[in-house]
Amino acid sequence: MIGGDMRYLTFALGKGRLVKDTMELLNKCGIECEEVLDKKTRKLIFTNEELGLKFFLAKGPDVPTYVEYGAADIGIVGADTILEENRRVYEVLDLGFGKCRMCVCGPHDAKRLLEHREMIRVASKYPNIAKDYFFNKKHQTVDIIKLNGSVELGPIVNLSDVIVDIVETGSTLKENGLEVLEEICPLSARVIVNQVSMQMETERIRKLINAMKENL
Ligand code: PRP
Repeated sequence: MIGGDMRYLTFALGKGRLVKDTMELLNKCGIECEEVLDKKTRKLIFTNEELGLKFFLAKGPDVPTYVEYGAADIGIVGADTILEENRRVYEVLDLGFGKCRMCVCGPHDAKRLLEHREMIRVASKYPNIAKDYFFNKKHQTVDIIKLNGSVELGPIVNLSDVIVDIVETGSTLKENGLEVLEEICPLSARVIVNQVSMQMETERIRKLINAMKENL
């Protein structure tokens, strides 16, 4: 039971593809929190009284925000989101699951536009990652168009020449006549921690991180 002066530690978990593996890992660590997955309830936050933990699910891009402001002590989210949001948080552990790659993709012919450093249009859910890659790493001036999903449509309907997006199996690209043109970086699920929480609750957080590490 949570003692008198022990405060709850709160986990923010990104909704979507990482949830299943995240839950499995927490379960292996002896941390029960399946209730957050219960589709029948409209409740947003769940408490494990025994361990003094709280859990909530949030949209991926909001997880680093909750953690930076201390609304959550710990967050589990994809490296893509951490890079894109660029929040002041500590990244403490690579969980190794949710492995995929951030890539520049497009039709085969677009390779030429990349090689010649042409002024091209790039559609992406990740405008900051796209900007950093083209402006800072490639020194190529491009026009970046922010989309919110189904980014592969960009080159198909001539909104953009290429896209910057996540590739996991590659089947979305293949089924739409697109391919990986350049690889930006590998991605996977990560644990992030609020900077103040890390100082105030060092021992409890270190134990949780070690438990996760041991159960990967
Ligand atoms: C992601 C990503 C690609 C796809 C890659 O989209 O944006 O579209 O998965 O996976 P694959 O290489 O295994 O085909 P997601 O399904 O998250 O939805 P979105 O289109 O709304 O971003």
